[in-house]
Amino acid sequence: MTQQQKRVLSVRPFLKWAGGKTQLLNEFCKRLPPGLKTGHITTYVEPFIGGGAFFFFLAERYSFKQCTICDANQELIIVYRVIRESVNELAEELASFQSVYQENNERGQENLYYETRAAFNRDLPGISIDTFQPSWVERAAQIIFLNRTCFNGLFRVNRKGEFNVPFGRYKNPDILNKDNLNNVAAILKNTRILHGDFTMCRDAIDEHTFVYLDPPYRPLNHTSSFTSYGKSGFSDADQARLAIFYRELDSLGAKLMLSNSDPKNIDPSDSFFDDLYAGYTIERIPARRMINSNGARRGEINELVITNYSR
Ligand SMILES: C[S@@+](CC[C@H](N)C(=O)[O-])C[C@H]1O[C@@H](n2cnc3c(N)ncnc32)[C@H](O)[C@@H]1O
Repeated sequence: MTQQQKRVLSVRPFLKWAGGKTQLLNEFCKRLPPGLKTGHITTYVEPFIGGGAFFFFLAERYSFKQCTICDANQELIIVYRVIRESVNELAEELASFQSVYQENNERGQENLYYETRAAFNRDLPGISIDTFQPSWVERAAQIIFLNRTCFNGLFRVNRKGEFNVPFGRYKNPDILNKDNLNNVAAILKNTRILHGDFTMCRDAIDEHTFVYLDPPYRPLNHTSSFTSYGKSGFSDADQARLAIFYRELDSLGAKLMLSNSDPKNIDPSDSFFDDLYAGYTIERIPARRMINSNGARRGEINELVITNYSR
């Protein structure tokens, strides 16, 4: 065990998030930049944090001086900030959801779900992301509750920012996992939490930084597309903008790892990412895609992992 490595607590994402990377952690581990172990890397940045599977995995194993996470999804960022600032109050709200849910029959559970969803959508116009508000605690609890009890456990909002997923009929959903929330809060104490476009992370990055970039997948085909994490999608022009950002960070000396769907799964002649990231190490690793609009087509496909360093 090197000086930088820490005792591991097994912190897990507190939300189930489309594109979550838990199943790929072993493959990512084989591709970490050597500077993590030598101590050359002292900061970590993840511009598309989502559920944060890789961030939690790394943050409990390596002592970073600082971490910076970012996401364009306002509701997600509210939950991260509430866990950091008010984890006990959040746990109380979730405990209350947990006991009301468990005391009710299926009809009552369904009513609780739709009442909470309506309250979440009703409060949307009054939410300001700029400064921490006590009302965020209730909202964060609503988000976690809805995420644990909705169909397929997916957080999906429409163009107006409304949550519109139906009830999932779970018997014993894990609404409050206090130990995990406390462990997440401990990790977040040392973390800057930004809301907005991935480019906002630029100032946090230098030659001592490891950056993991996990943008919304480029749809593999027109029917299997899942790109709506928030109100705005992520187009091919955004993927190209990200590749320019990647080259800019590379020139700063940062160590970079990026993942995306592999268009060659569908069309072997599609070299979209091979062209955008020409000159870098492009690897294809097997992945089981969990989120697909057509359940029958879930299965083994390749995922791209693009690094600017050799192992
Ligand atoms: C593939 S998910 C990340 C999944 C994450 N690695 C995990 O393990 O859960 C992509 C994330 O990018 C966010 N996003 C979309 N457009 C963005 C943008 N322009 N800048 C920053 N984040 C964005 C989405 O809200 C979503 O959370």
